[in-house]
Amino acid sequence: MPSNRALMARYGASPVTVQKAMRTLGALGLVESRPGVGTFVRAVRTARALDYGWQTGALGAPRARIPTLSTPLRSAAPDAIGLHAGYPDRTLLPERLVRTALTRAARSTAALVRSDAAGSPELRAWFATELAEATPAGGTPPAARDVLIVPGSQSGLSSIFRAIVGFGRPVLLESPTYWGAILAAAQAGVRAVPVPSGPDGPDPDELARAFEETGARLLYAQPNYANPTGAQWSRERAERVLDIVRARGAFLVEDDWAHDFGIDGAARPLAAHDEAGHVIYVRSLTKSVSPAVRVAGVIARGPVRDRILADRGAESMYVSDLLQAAALDVVTHPGWRTHLRHLGQQLRARRDLLVDSLAEHVPDAQLDHVPRGGLHLWARLPDGTDVDRLTRDCETDGVLIAPGTEWFPAEPSGPFVRLNYTGPDPERFPDGARVIGRALARQAPADRSAPRVQEPRG
Ligand SMILES: Cc1ncc(COP(=O)(O)O)c(C=O)c1O
Repeated sequence: MPSNRALMARYGASPVTVQKAMRTLGALGLVESRPGVGTFVRAVRTARALDYGWQTGALGAPRARIPTLSTPLRSAAPDAIGLHAGYPDRTLLPERLVRTALTRAARSTAALVRSDAAGSPELRAWFATELAEATPAGGTPPAARDVLIVPGSQSGLSSIFRAIVGFGRPVLLESPTYWGAILAAAQAGVRAVPVPSGPDGPDPDELARAFEETGARLLYAQPNYANPTGAQWSRERAERVLDIVRARGAFLVEDDWAHDFGIDGAARPLAAHDEAGHVIYVRSLTKSVSPAVRVAGVIARGPVRDRILADRGAESMYVSDLLQAAALDVVTHPGWRTHLRHLGQQLRARRDLLVDSLAEHVPDAQLDHVPRGGLHLWARLPDGTDVDRLTRDCETDGVLIAPGTEWFPAEPSGPFVRLNYTGPDPERFPDGARVIGRALARQAPADRSAPRVQEPRG
């Protein structure tokens, strides 16, 4: 390669730009620098097609059909309309608070020390205090020692299933439910048992029967703004479910993933009404603070906490103190409350715009209810709709949607799609809905009623 000086002269570029370009070429493996000699273009290696066939025998068949990458984790093309994602767009994050907090954390000792295995005492106290605020007068709120910090609630769910349910044992899941809980159950080798759940939460009779029939000791549920349905349980339903769980001597894992995303009112944590350690409460900051600050709290009272902590130790030992310090800095800043208030208004405007866009352009889509919080709409399509085909057709026309199939632990109870109203460019929601409406119209009613032959997957 010519010298950096020669490159600067040839391209009229600054030394910083040229150094950066050379570093990038080095990182890509295209050039190699030999100190005191110069920089050389590396020989290009031709890529041979490699044979990994031996792994088929070594791996054997998986225990359960384990989904690979779920739709909400897919990256969208820059010009696509993304209604599929699971995380809010960065314009909805407290960007200034996060940047300042990360800078402050980088300058503090948190950048150089190992955290306690259970997490930073201050952050644990903050999670405990938040739940204590929802605890009714006369109740005994959780303490900081009941809290474990985990690197995102997904990781917490995996630990809980492994530590409490155990291989081959049953776990009750609402149906539909969060795809990541279905995935974590599959990976932990626990047996997912679906319990039908609607806009008011799980059917208490079905729930009692499922406990009875399976002998399960754990129910995973989302009492507030469930992903995907947006359901929020009434107080009465929450009480009934808790009674059933108590009567069975079981645990309820409450995934309060959307605690910070209330629109018409606030989340009502069920765990605030349990002192006896039946409810294991999981609250994430990943979606509301920043996807780059993957921090969540698990509140578990009694010996069950130690079981979960032991699994965490085996899994990842501890969570980066840098991220914990940054998360705590954001949520204790006075600007955090202001941000949440503003966020609620933005969510309302976005939710209503997507609801209106669907009503206008996809009149056949049916919303059981408009969610009072969370990030998504859950729309039922006419019977017989081929949701996979609809998803593909929309993608071809530049709109990403999430097929409802991924949220069912067993067969889907109907054709559903999940649409996120917190992606980029809300002003394009009407265009997105128009594309969905057109793709649906292409599936003529005759198509929908004809028996469908499963296409072989290539
Ligand atoms: C219901 C639910 N629980 C847990 C998670 C995982 O959250 P985290 O990013 O904290 O791992 C998600 C993410 O989509 C979710 O929707």
